[in-house]
Amino acid sequence: MLLVPGPGSKYLAAKIAVAGGFRLADVEYKRFPDGEHYLRLASDFKDEKPVLVNGLHPPQDEHLMHLALLADILKGRQAEYLTAVIPYMAYARQDRRFREGEPISILTVLRMMAGAGIDQVVTVNIHSPWIISQSPIKIIDLDASGLLATYLLQAGFERPYILSPGKKGGTMAEEVASILETSYGVIRSSRDPVTGEVEVSTDAELAGEDVAIVDDVISTGTTMAKSVQLVKKLGAKRVAALCIHGLFLQDSASKIIESGADLLIATDTVPNGFAVASVAGLLAQKLGEI
Ligand code: R5P
Repeated sequence: MLLVPGPGSKYLAAKIAVAGGFRLADVEYKRFPDGEHYLRLASDFKDEKPVLVNGLHPPQDEHLMHLALLADILKGRQAEYLTAVIPYMAYARQDRRFREGEPISILTVLRMMAGAGIDQVVTVNIHSPWIISQSPIKIIDLDASGLLATYLLQAGFERPYILSPGKKGGTMAEEVASILETSYGVIRSSRDPVTGEVEVSTDAELAGEDVAIVDDVISTGTTMAKSVQLVKKLGAKRVAALCIHGLFLQDSASKIIESGADLLIATDTVPNGFAVASVAGLLAQKLGEI
């Protein structure tokens, strides 16, 4: 297998290559004076199966363009069934028309990928798994929440109460709690579609408990910071803030720490300074199977 990385995913692609014993392609990249992107596959392949590795973390649209150009390169080299590893799937939070006149952005992006010749995507904890059945291309969605549990143990959080916000909160909290053999619950969260204002609440009884809040995405950090404040107010002892995809926009990390979090960790699906858990092994294992 030959891993062909986009310019924004070289480091993670190298880690996947090491974990799976795959070859890593050399991709040349530059921008034309007018800003347009130029990519060239400098490595050759004959009997190897090429697989794209190109996350869609910010700048999302730029990375989307890299993905389409790389797909064209490989289709031009007769790649038959094209798999793209996209550790972070962009636009997955606009998965419905929340207000009249809006697009379903994730479906638009998936259609663009299909048009670019991508047949299959391997991703990690897609924000909107319910969209998979409507996708024009096959999506394999891997769950990395178990990796975070290992790091909680290492950080001395042995049996924390696990809480997750959002629609999939129960499932994610249950997964981490089952590994640590501890209790779990949900944080109800809602965001005003116009103002972006976030409200959180929970029924969990947390007095004197160590608590770990596990979310799929930290973007502005508002949901996590408000959740940390909430559990502290309910009497939690130590609080760990964990996420799969750490976008960590602007002052999000300091906002979470200032809200009272004792620990902040993420995976490396998105390049970020809190990425202690790597999804490389998980992705390498799946690529070895398909
Ligand atoms: C919401 O459904 C997600 O699980 C996250 O809680 C949300 O996307 C985080 O966004 P932010 O960091 O901007 O509050």
